[in-house]
Amino acid sequence: MTQPIDFSGRKALVTGGASGIGEVTAKLLAELGATVALADINGNALPPARERTGAHATVVGDVAVEADAERIVAESAHALGGLDLLFNSAGIGDDLVPLHEQSTERWRRVFDVNFWGTLLVARAAGRTMIAQSRGAIVNVSSIVGLDAFPGRSAYGVAKAGIGHLTRTLACEWGHHGIRVNAIAPAYTKTPMVRDLLERNIFDPGMIERRTPLGRMAETEEMAKAAAFLLSDWASYITGVVLPVDGGWTAYGAAGDVVKIRHGDG
Ligand SMILES: NC(=O)c1ccc[n+]([C@@H]2O[C@H](COP(=O)([O-])OP(=O)(O)OC[C@H]3O[C@@H](n4cnc5c(N)ncnc54)[C@H](O)[C@@H]3O)[C@@H](O)[C@H]2O)c1
Repeated sequence: MTQPIDFSGRKALVTGGASGIGEVTAKLLAELGATVALADINGNALPPARERTGAHATVVGDVAVEADAERIVAESAHALGGLDLLFNSAGIGDDLVPLHEQSTERWRRVFDVNFWGTLLVARAAGRTMIAQSRGAIVNVSSIVGLDAFPGRSAYGVAKAGIGHLTRTLACEWGHHGIRVNAIAPAYTKTPMVRDLLERNIFDPGMIERRTPLGRMAETEEMAKAAAFLLSDWASYITGVVLPVDGGWTAYGAAGDVVKIRHGDG
């Protein structure tokens, strides 16, 4: 009952493992005893990420391409000697463009990487896990998949789809001993968000004021939530999309959280 989380002997695949939430989660899983494979489209970033995380293996591929997704899972399972855990973190951001101004090509790419990539890797990993009658998967949704954000239709639809896919797979695979959950992060200080900040796509002050905890998330805070859901501590949790958002989705009032928190009274 009081045993700390321990992934000794577990084999874990982390997609999008060369950066951000994926990389930091891979490092945490390795620190907690897992043998980890990193998969990423960015082949140059994989060797340094392997050094930083202590991962055992790396695979280059595009999760949105079916053959690549199948190969990522097959090569990872081969290198690790099996597959028990999947953290499905590969994803790309969008450009804050309303639908009527968005190109079909860009919309489809944002949707394909985020949703289709998650589905393809989960499906391939699920087949391996079903064969051994155990496994745990954590997908990555977003607060943008829980409520509507103007200008983010492709990303939002993909992330909402990941939530629904997560619940559906949990129901399909539960009796095979496989748990499927997701985290829904709010704004987290990763290279993806730094890029959006540099392009003035959003105002950090506004986000901090809109967040009950009054700050953006650290990447480690996402990694800890993902590790919990992958671990035996979550052994009776499946089909959940867990907001890891500092209270963002709990907040429904108009106005400014910080002003209210530090108000006149
Ligand atoms: N950072 C945030 O605030 C935030 C908030 C909500 C959700 N998310 C989600 O968290 C996940 C990780 O985001 P991050 O902020 O760590 O971003 P990041 O850019 O730091 O890392 C994403 C990684 O995915 C890889 N990748 C991109 N497209 C790929 C593809 N087609 N195939 C394989 N790998 C691919 C990238 O090369 C990169 O290494 C994403 O799914 C993102 O949508 C992030």
